[in-house]
Amino acid sequence: MSFLLTKEQLMIQKMAREFARKDLAPKAAERDLNHEFPGDSLAKMGELGFMGMLVSEEYGGDNLGTIAYSLALTEIAAACASTAVVMSVHNSICCGSIEKYGSDQQKEEFLKPMATGEIIGAFALTEPEAGSDPQAMACTAEKDGDDYIINGTKRFITTGKNSGVTILLARTEPTGSKGISAFLITHGMDGFEVGRVEDKMGQCASDTTDLLFNNCRVPSSRMLGKEGEGFTIAMSGLDAGRIGIASLSLGIANAAMEESIKYGKQREQFGQKITDFQGLRWMIADMAMDIEAARLMVLNAADIKERGENCTQAASMAKCFASEMAQRVTGTAIQLHGGYGYIKEYPVERFYRDARITTIYEGTNQIQRVVISNEILKDKKKKKK
Ligand code: CAA
Repeated sequence: MSFLLTKEQLMIQKMAREFARKDLAPKAAERDLNHEFPGDSLAKMGELGFMGMLVSEEYGGDNLGTIAYSLALTEIAAACASTAVVMSVHNSICCGSIEKYGSDQQKEEFLKPMATGEIIGAFALTEPEAGSDPQAMACTAEKDGDDYIINGTKRFITTGKNSGVTILLARTEPTGSKGISAFLITHGMDGFEVGRVEDKMGQCASDTTDLLFNNCRVPSSRMLGKEGEGFTIAMSGLDAGRIGIASLSLGIANAAMEESIKYGKQREQFGQKITDFQGLRWMIADMAMDIEAARLMVLNAADIKERGENCTQAASMAKCFASEMAQRVTGTAIQLHGGYGYIKEYPVERFYRDARITTIYEGTNQIQRVVISNEILKDKKKKKK
């Protein structure tokens, strides 16, 4: 695929790979085991420019484009998927939404420190009873003078505990997609606290938390975009976010494939390397084909986004295919390792667990298929009438 990439994009990919292998990979297993947030690595990533890749230069970013960003994120994910999901939500959804919808003051206050990794962004859409159907949210933002009073609970929030700013979606009207608004929330506000921190199957070094709002007073200057614009902000943020998750899935699969080749070339059975068996060789060929197909879809989606065109369909396709591919490839990697693949000493065990969430978060793959078919058929509004 390198024939489609510019010299600058290849250089960024190489830089991300070097950083990921040197800084992230050696610590990934222990951080996963200890559920330790990769704060120091994220700070270094901020210094290297990886936390403001999509932010304009005016606000301290490098404006490197979605393709370069996707390439970098893939490299980070190959070393540590937990770090990659934090990077993805921060860059794709949070920086992207604040750059697009934020006021000048909000960009000064939040986007600038986000671009350098000084603070990390979180995105709070999901609730206990509103996952795939976010319009069912119960969290409310009631106008009170020049403020809004927030009440409700958000669930499964990536970086909920360690964020410097959270984009919160809440209802300003009781019904309808235009009854949802977005707010910029920071820790320390009265009536806002972090609830339980989830004990997850994978990506354990990133924190996933409940956020609790109990009469939390937020000034209207903290509203992101206009009142009623929140659902659009969330949906367009998720378009970008899904390219991030697709890139992350690709990175996990790349790492699983690399480990499989390494293991297969040194493991001997029946007096020969296991990669000398045709069955094993075909497994490697299938992994490589699967990865290549996903890589092309991810780059296609990133290219469409970078050109400023509607990327909804391409992003959902890339997320759906790449995440399912990552499950197939990490599953094959375990199989190829035999019993060794099932123990924590070998990294494929972690890759398998890390890949599992990718078909679920940022919209389950069933929802991706809803989005894709809606985009193709373009008949949703007609049917509703
Ligand atoms: N961009 C901009 N606007 C969009 C949009 C998009 N991609 N998709 C929909 N909209 C707009 C529509 O045009 C419509 O506007 P109008 O009323 O003006 O026509 C409005 O939003 C409502 O659209 P729908 O009627 O299609 O909305 P819906 O309620 O039927 O839902 C859905 C559509 C695609 C199923 C959506 O609910 C969805 O994506 N669900 C999944 C939620 C999700 O991905 N959650 C992930 C949480 S975040 C996370 O996981 C991050 C993490 O931690 C890693």
